[in-house]
Amino acid sequence: MGVFSAESGHEQVVFCHDKPTGLRAIIAIYSTALGPGLGGTRFYPYVSEAEALHDALELSRAMAYKNALASLDHGGGKAVIWGDPERDKSEPLLRAYGRFVESLGGRYYTACDVGTYVHDMDVVARETRFVTGRSAANGGAGDSSVLTAYGVFQGMRAAAEHLWGTTSLAGRAVGIAGLGKVGKHLTKHLLDDGATVVATDVSERALAWARETHPQVTLVSDADTLIREPIDVYAPCAMGGALDDDTVPALRAKVVAGAANNQLAHPGIEKLLAERGVLYTPDYVVNSGGVIQVADEIHGFNFERAKLRAAGIYDTTRQILHLAAADGVPPAVAADRLAERRMAEVGRLRGILLPGR
Ligand SMILES: NC(=O)c1ccc[n+]([C@@H]2O[C@H](COP(=O)([O-])OP(=O)(O)OC[C@H]3O[C@@H](n4cnc5c(N)ncnc54)[C@H](O)[C@@H]3O)[C@@H](O)[C@H]2O)c1
Repeated sequence: MGVFSAESGHEQVVFCHDKPTGLRAIIAIYSTALGPGLGGTRFYPYVSEAEALHDALELSRAMAYKNALASLDHGGGKAVIWGDPERDKSEPLLRAYGRFVESLGGRYYTACDVGTYVHDMDVVARETRFVTGRSAANGGAGDSSVLTAYGVFQGMRAAAEHLWGTTSLAGRAVGIAGLGKVGKHLTKHLLDDGATVVATDVSERALAWARETHPQVTLVSDADTLIREPIDVYAPCAMGGALDDDTVPALRAKVVAGAANNQLAHPGIEKLLAERGVLYTPDYVVNSGGVIQVADEIHGFNFERAKLRAAGIYDTTRQILHLAAADGVPPAVAADRLAERRMAEVGRLRGILLPGR
């Protein structure tokens, strides 16, 4: 994929430009079968427009699958702003972007992603109603990493039950690559459950946090070292592509469950993991706590309600692992099938006419 074509399957792709602010954005809607597209805005210094388009297309498609399995009434959408967030982000630029989101009339709801933050969504919200991930002070869901980490932990519990017959991670060693917003919360869940944590990060500040807050966490130099440690579970919580032709053969963990998006470097890695006897919990399933958190904002944010829904990630992961075992396919394939089924079966109901809607 990468080119907007019949093969890519996207419903709508909108290019937005505002010369005075320098805004160049692409909003991609993969599917609205289940409802308005929902997905964040990535602000990133892409090397070319083609690269920005490719990212928007890939990410919006992934959101459709994520939202479908998170049981949300949302389709998949995502936006990218082509620029350097440190240099180019400004109030007028974000507000210009908000006006383009508004112009879609609710076919797409935006949220935070790499390079955009809660306070940016507060600015975007001054121009559009179709925004989530705002600050709590503005009626928003706040930092989505809270329920993302909670959801990853639920997915990990389901994998532990599938493999070891217990939902507890007590006594297991979990390797976390990336002690950022999600990795920090996940560390706490695991330690509270009685697991031991081995972790790594490229940021000295993140490592200092671990030393000060959780001195019992073992820190290692990098992700390559981490995967060779005697860990039971590997949790990629940094960038995408953590599982590739070099890392999978070196992996000692029997379970992979982490927050990072697009963990499989290319198609076929899911098979390699299965051949090596590694139980991979699909990234977009276990990391959907964040989108569940921000989707709740549309109905007036209620943390307990959102947390209850995120707890469902345990059941969904369990269902996918059972389905994969029954069908003799990797969990990533079982997840895709389940998501496509919900999009088709629930999406079809729009064919029953409700006058006035
Ligand atoms: N925050 C959410 O709600 C959410 C939701 C779904 C998916 N995700 C995904 O989860 C991942 C983590 O998100 P986050 O919000 O914690 O991001 P973050 O930017 O707060 O944290 C990422 C951490 O990874 C570290 N890192 C970067 N490269 C690394 C490397 N090579 N080795 C080790 N550490 C490295 C960074 O220093 C940082 O501390 C991202 O891939 C994100 O797309 C996040």
